[in-house]
Amino acid sequence: MSRTVIGIVMNGVTGRMGYRQHLVRSILAIREQGGLALDDGEVLWPEPILVGRSAPKLKEIADRHGLEHWTTDLDEALSHPLAQIYFDAQLTQVREPAIRKAIAAGKHVYTEKPTAESLDAALELARLARAAGVCNGAVQDKLFLPGLLKLKRLVDGGFFGRILSVRGEFGYWVFEGDWQTAQRPSWNYRAQDGGGMILDMFPHWRYVLDNIFSPVRSVYAHTATHIDERWDEQGAVYQATADDAAYGVFELDGGIVAQINSSWAVRVDRDELVEFQVDGTEGSAVAGLRNCRIQHRAATPKPVWNPDLPATEPFRSQWQQVPDNEEFDNGFKVQWELFLTHVVTGAPYRWDLLEGAKGVQLAELGLRSAAEGRRLDVPDLEI
Ligand SMILES: NC(=O)c1ccc[n+]([C@@H]2O[C@H](COP(=O)([O-])OP(=O)(O)OC[C@H]3O[C@@H](n4cnc5c(N)ncnc54)[C@H](O)[C@@H]3O)[C@@H](O)[C@H]2O)c1
Repeated sequence: MSRTVIGIVMNGVTGRMGYRQHLVRSILAIREQGGLALDDGEVLWPEPILVGRSAPKLKEIADRHGLEHWTTDLDEALSHPLAQIYFDAQLTQVREPAIRKAIAAGKHVYTEKPTAESLDAALELARLARAAGVCNGAVQDKLFLPGLLKLKRLVDGGFFGRILSVRGEFGYWVFEGDWQTAQRPSWNYRAQDGGGMILDMFPHWRYVLDNIFSPVRSVYAHTATHIDERWDEQGAVYQATADDAAYGVFELDGGIVAQINSSWAVRVDRDELVEFQVDGTEGSAVAGLRNCRIQHRAATPKPVWNPDLPATEPFRSQWQQVPDNEEFDNGFKVQWELFLTHVVTGAPYRWDLLEGAKGVQLAELGLRSAAEGRRLDVPDLEI
């Protein structure tokens, strides 16, 4: 059994996503399981090379996890003899120049979404990566969540018959930061810092809809900044300039209508922080992050509208849980494992920078739709 060390320059590991989901739950988890075993018996051993702005923070993370390599200099990290992959979980705004640098240095690229702040920039990154012949990927973690995997299983198994509509509810209350600290970074609420609900969540909705149902063909979005004053990490008050809610309607191939409400100013009366209800001619499902419940055509009740009588049907209990039938690993880790395998063996990998650019496209069109108050077509993308 041979062991291949693969150096990964990890930028943004002092942040929420970079640290928790990518470093700890993915790369370090792969090391804890003894590396990533490939079909031919080879074992991949990911070696993180941490890079960021704050030396003390990087050193503290490296010490905590017994990691050897860290630096505040991106060029130095990219020229490290082990470095083969560049990973970016920085603030969206500073991503593009770093990815350009990594591609120019001949590194494979894997990045958080949105891959860039504009469609032009996202497409340019995809083009540059293709021209340089480097492997490239964009995080599309929701596709690897148990609830959505079960939903995909239902679609693939023909459970729904003809799919009519998808209703998504995403959101929770993000504290303003005055009397209780906010649970998300303040840049998310400032448009000038790359924040906003559409830019954050429409990239997710694009790959969820495209991959689980069918390609998105049009978008209509209405945005709001419901809470216009918030308090930052230092306790200073600031003006929230970005949308904190987006109400979107998307038409998909095959006439499916998807409607997704996304809000950081909503209190949760759901089982999970995101839920999608899918209605089809043969059955319906409600999928969340982990769970998925179904109601078949044959088990559909026949309620009669009568406001004079109290509701007697226990609607919530008329659904059946979809069983796991397999073990689900962390979604970020699963996607990392597929990307690492792709880099080393050339195995196919669908979720590349062009797919990432589609997410940026939907965000850009969503923002334009909201500004102009009209529905916009979503054209095919090419590079
Ligand atoms: N896949 C997902 O589900 C998901 C969820 C949340 C965020 N994200 C994406 O991950 C990225 C990071 O989000 P986060 O919530 O971890 O943010 P965060 O604020 O917690 O982390 C930002 C990181 O970028 C670094 N950074 C570099 N230059 C910076 C600058 N000029 N100003 C501020 N920070 C700078 C910070 O040091 C930190 O390491 C964003 O692009 C976001 O869209 C993805």
